[in-house]
Amino acid sequence: MQPTLTLNTGVTIPQLGLGTWKSETASVGEAVKTAVRTGYRHVDCAHVYGNEAEIGEALQDLFAAGEVNREELFITSKLWNTDHHPDTVPLACRRTLENLRLEYLDLYLVHWGVAFAPGSEKNPMGEDGRIKTENISLQETWHALEALVDEGLVRSIGVANYTTPLLIDLLNYARIQPAVNQVEIHPYNAQFALTEFCRDKNITLTAYSPLGSFGEASEKPLADPVVKAIAKTHSVTPAQVLIRWSLQRGLTVIPKSTNPKRIAENFAVFDFTLSQEEMEQLHSLDQHRRFVDPSESWGIPYFS
Ligand code: A2P
Repeated sequence: MQPTLTLNTGVTIPQLGLGTWKSETASVGEAVKTAVRTGYRHVDCAHVYGNEAEIGEALQDLFAAGEVNREELFITSKLWNTDHHPDTVPLACRRTLENLRLEYLDLYLVHWGVAFAPGSEKNPMGEDGRIKTENISLQETWHALEALVDEGLVRSIGVANYTTPLLIDLLNYARIQPAVNQVEIHPYNAQFALTEFCRDKNITLTAYSPLGSFGEASEKPLADPVVKAIAKTHSVTPAQVLIRWSLQRGLTVIPKSTNPKRIAENFAVFDFTLSQEEMEQLHSLDQHRRFVDPSESWGIPYFS
């Protein structure tokens, strides 16, 4: 049995999911099939990843072959920044549902707390070299997401990349509370304060890029000597230690892979436990270091 958490909506979410950011369209379908056959029941998607149609095709094949039921899966997607206008939100959600070939999403997240100018360009840049933002408040967008719950298109709603002040504001105007905040978390960016805040507010925190995602291989937590030493002690891999660390912190965690061996490896994390001392050794690696920060490319100091 894999561990689950209960969201503030009363719905359960498998703690471990398959990430699909940067999964190529050519391989993401097979990755999803491999994951489901391995035992994954949670897939994290987003419109902006550009691969939802291929994921939808794979899900359809799995359903048709009776390998899994829709009700057994937990599927998340995210509203892109160009689609924040309240009139666009339902269209964006329906487009995602069409691509994923689903009738409902388990979770729909506001991908970032900033509205971009609408249009087909994912990152509409102005002549000044900065992203073009739009005068749409996050409150208007949130109310449009609430309407999706009312309509039955999505079961739970939440946010991603929200900082504490954005969450505090959201909690003031939300009729439906955010179930999840999905942010970058690994031992180099442990997010202890945000974790405590979310726990206090009953918001489940999801760790994206739990292996460190980008960057020089040698700089990633996967290559950290402490992580490697703990892995050796348990005869597991550094990736398994990093995933286990997130699980034991009570987070949901969504490592991305399209490699069948690594998809299986990342799921083989339920038969060992990190000791309190090992958890603390991993905690001490925190250096507030993000690998995913679009501030420079957008020309907006998003996290500052
Ligand atoms: P691949 O898809 O080829 O397996 P994150 O989820 O932190 O963003 O990390 C994803 C990156 O880590 C991808 O480049 C992925 O490559 C790689 N990766 C996924 N699982 C493992 C693993 N078990 N060991 C090493 N690298 C992994």
